[in-house]
Amino acid sequence: MPEIVLEAHAKINLALEVIGRRGDGFHDLVSVMQTITLADSITIREAHGVEVVCSRPELGGPANLTYRAATILRSTFDINTGCSIHIEKRIPVAAGLGGGSSDAAATLIGLARLWQLDARCQDLRSIAEQLGSDVPFFLYAGTCLIEGRGDDVRRLNSGVRCWYVLANPAVPVRTADVFGALHHGDFTDGEAARDLGRRFEEGGHPRIGPNALMRPLFDLVPEARSCYERLAPLAPGRTFVSGSGPTIGALFTMRADAEAARRALGDALPWVVVAESCIPVRGAMPCA
Ligand code: C5P
Repeated sequence: MPEIVLEAHAKINLALEVIGRRGDGFHDLVSVMQTITLADSITIREAHGVEVVCSRPELGGPANLTYRAATILRSTFDINTGCSIHIEKRIPVAAGLGGGSSDAAATLIGLARLWQLDARCQDLRSIAEQLGSDVPFFLYAGTCLIEGRGDDVRRLNSGVRCWYVLANPAVPVRTADVFGALHHGDFTDGEAARDLGRRFEEGGHPRIGPNALMRPLFDLVPEARSCYERLAPLAPGRTFVSGSGPTIGALFTMRADAEAARRALGDALPWVVVAESCIPVRGAMPCA
C-alpha cells in the first residue's frame, strides 16, 4: 500500500511584533519566522475513514489538528477514501515551536500527494488559514516575513546557515493566554521585524529582534524567565523567546559554539536541543 513520509519541521520566531488588536479577537503581527531541523515525522497511508495515531497516545484521535486538516481537504476535493496518519512526536507541545501547525500543514501536503489532487498553493492556503494562524507559513517554510493575523506570508532570501540552542522548562503554555495578557504598551509599529526581514534579503548575518509576547509570558510563567536568564549569558544579545514560548532560543553562526553552549547548560533544564536553520529550495514547498 502506498505510504507518504514527511518531516514536519518546527519554527522559531526571530522577531515578533504585535501591532494591535483586531476586531475578530486576533492580533495583527509582524514577525520573522524560520523553519529548523527539529521535526515530527508524519506517515500517511490510505484507509477507511480518517484516523490519527501519535507516539504520544494522548495527542491522537479527532482532537489532533491533522484530523481536521484531513477532513477539510477530503470534503473540499470530494474524496471517498480516507487515511491513516501516524505522528512521531519530537517537537514539544504548546511550546511556541509550531509543532501542531506544522503537522497539519505536512498532512495537507502529504494527502494532496497520496490522493493525487490538483491542489495549488491557494487551495491549500485557504484550508491552512481555517486551521490556525501559523499553518499557512508551513506551506512556505524557510525564512519568511509574516504579517496580519499570521496568514500574510512572504518568503525571504536566507542563505546564511545558523544554529540554535533551544531550551524550555517543560511547562505547556496556551498561546491565547499570552496574547490575552498583552498591554497596550507592548504594541509597536513592526519596523524592527521588517528591518530584520530586509537584513535577510540582503544576505546579512541573522540577528534577533524584539518579541512583544516576552513580557506577558514572563509574567505568567516565571520558569520561562529563569530559562531565559540561564541562556542569555551564553549568547548575549542573541537570546529570544520563540512565539508565545516558553521555549527560549539562542542564536549561533557556528555549530561548535552552539554545541559548547548546550554543554555549558548541563542538565539543569528539562529539555535542551541544538537545531539548525532548515531552508528548503524554492519549488520544494507548495507555496514557495
Ligand atoms: O490561530 P491560532 O489558533 O493558532 O491562535 C491561537 C490563539 O492565539 C488565538 O485564539 C488568539 O487568542 C491568539 N492569537 C492572536 N493573534 C494572532 C494569532 C493568535 O490573538 N495573530
